[in-house]
Amino acid sequence: MESEESALSVEVGGIVVHQEHLNAADQAELVEQVRRVVRAAPLFRPETRSGKAMSVRMTSAGAFGWTSGRDGYRYARQHPNGQEWPPMPQIALDIWRSLSGVPCDPQSCLINFYDADAKMGLHQDRDEADFDMPVVSVSLGDEALFRVGGSERGGKTQSIWLKSGDVAVMGGDARLNFHGIDRIRAGSSTLLPNGGRINLTMRVVE
Ligand code: SIN
Ligand code: FE2
Repeated sequence: MESEESALSVEVGGIVVHQEHLNAADQAELVEQVRRVVRAAPLFRPETRSGKAMSVRMTSAGAFGWTSGRDGYRYARQHPNGQEWPPMPQIALDIWRSLSGVPCDPQSCLINFYDADAKMGLHQDRDEADFDMPVVSVSLGDEALFRVGGSERGGKTQSIWLKSGDVAVMGGDARLNFHGIDRIRAGSSTLLPNGGRINLTMRVVE
């Protein structure tokens, strides 16, 4: 990947969004790298804590991935099929290295696939050991309405449309801010032939 400065970065509720961080060629290459992960570690539909099927489909790459089951949400070293997760997409790793601001590499890259009707309720990312380590989130494909609140549930929120190639960094005081995806704007991107959105989130877990 060529290193290139973001055209623009904006802050929403303390989360920094580097808009158009990835150019079209790198977006297409990252999609290829995600396909490789999905071939080795197929997408599955996790359950929420209350036992309902989530609308996103999910898989992971790196040392740890996210699974859900009767014992709740957790990081695990294996896909539900018992195999280790595949290596992290190189372009995602390069993005982490250029934008995370920390000297260590991520241990997990969660891959969420949103179809036109998928969404994700407001939540905090707090299953990691060290909240000084940011979460770096990459958007590919259709635009998504991203809502950001504060660190307490029920506070004021702000929203921004995340577009293909945008990278959001949740760090510092915003690391524990509530966030979620209200909806997908179907047909807003031609990156994925069948539409939809891919989101990759990288984290240091331990
Ligand atoms: C997440 O919070 O895990 C995903 C956020 C996104 O899809 O942009
Ligand atoms: Fe999250």
